[in-house]
Amino acid sequence: MTTPSPLLQVRDLHVAVGERTVLRGVSCDVQPGSLAVLMGANGSGKSTLGMALAGHPRYRVTGGQALLAGQDLLALPAHERARAGLFVSFQSPPDIPGVKNNLFIRTALNAVREARGEAPLDAFDFLTSAKSAAKDLGLPAAMLGRPVNEGFSGGERKRNELLQLTLLQPRLALLDEIDSGMDVDGVRTVVEQVARLRAAGMAFIVISHYLQMIEQLAPSAVLRLDQGRIAEAGDLALAQRIARTGFAAASATPTTQGA
Ligand SMILES: Nc1ncnc2c1ncn2[C@@H]1O[C@H](COP(=O)(O)OP(=O)(O)OP(=O)(O)O)[C@@H](O)[C@H]1O
Ligand SMILES: [Mg+2]
Repeated sequence: MTTPSPLLQVRDLHVAVGERTVLRGVSCDVQPGSLAVLMGANGSGKSTLGMALAGHPRYRVTGGQALLAGQDLLALPAHERARAGLFVSFQSPPDIPGVKNNLFIRTALNAVREARGEAPLDAFDFLTSAKSAAKDLGLPAAMLGRPVNEGFSGGERKRNELLQLTLLQPRLALLDEIDSGMDVDGVRTVVEQVARLRAAGMAFIVISHYLQMIEQLAPSAVLRLDQGRIAEAGDLALAQRIARTGFAAASATPTTQGA
């Protein structure tokens, strides 16, 4: 039996934000179709990892490598990373005043469809599938016609991130605290939708502090970020231990570099 090559390979990644080095040698692999949960104390650099992989200009990569399906992600501008199959959701999704949600998502979708060699969707076909996906995700269809996230509640913004994920069909999605601000039905929707997309072959990195959801996601790996590195890698038992004893206790114990 041969092991599949990793979909994402991160090696010794160093990232600085302003004057501060936040990531100091992150290494991890994500296999196709797998789901890794990323945990770590507030401020440990979880969102920084997502933003750096996505290509946010404020998060400066100062060393290391990140390959998506063997392609050098860090050499690509942000939009080409998305076209290569990476999706990174925002922990706090911003408003984009003046840009209609449906046009925003359709433009992004047609850009990734072009990269996959697929024909663009016209406004009618797009709206048909977007309305149906919005309904499944508990987002009123009227929100497609409003400016992106403008006047959306916290939970609605997170559902709108899920809608983009569902329509864009990336190879790898990093979801940054997608459950925060969501009600119980929203969290159930996240779990069900992630399971559906994963069954179709999508891989995930899910950042969360919420054990009950982490358990329902049935992760293939749980990673703990501390001091700018993956300090521990394990399975669900690691998340359960962190929930029981906290990050302070975890970072006081001897750590193993891994993933
Ligand atoms: N744009 C920024 N400007 C200045 N400092 C930043 C910026 N973004 C992140 N940082 C700093 O980098 C560190 C890591 O932040 P990051 O948001 O990655 O943490 P996190 O692990 O996602 O935390 P949380 O669990 O609270 O979301 C923090 O000390 C934060 O203050
Ligand atoms: Mg964060």
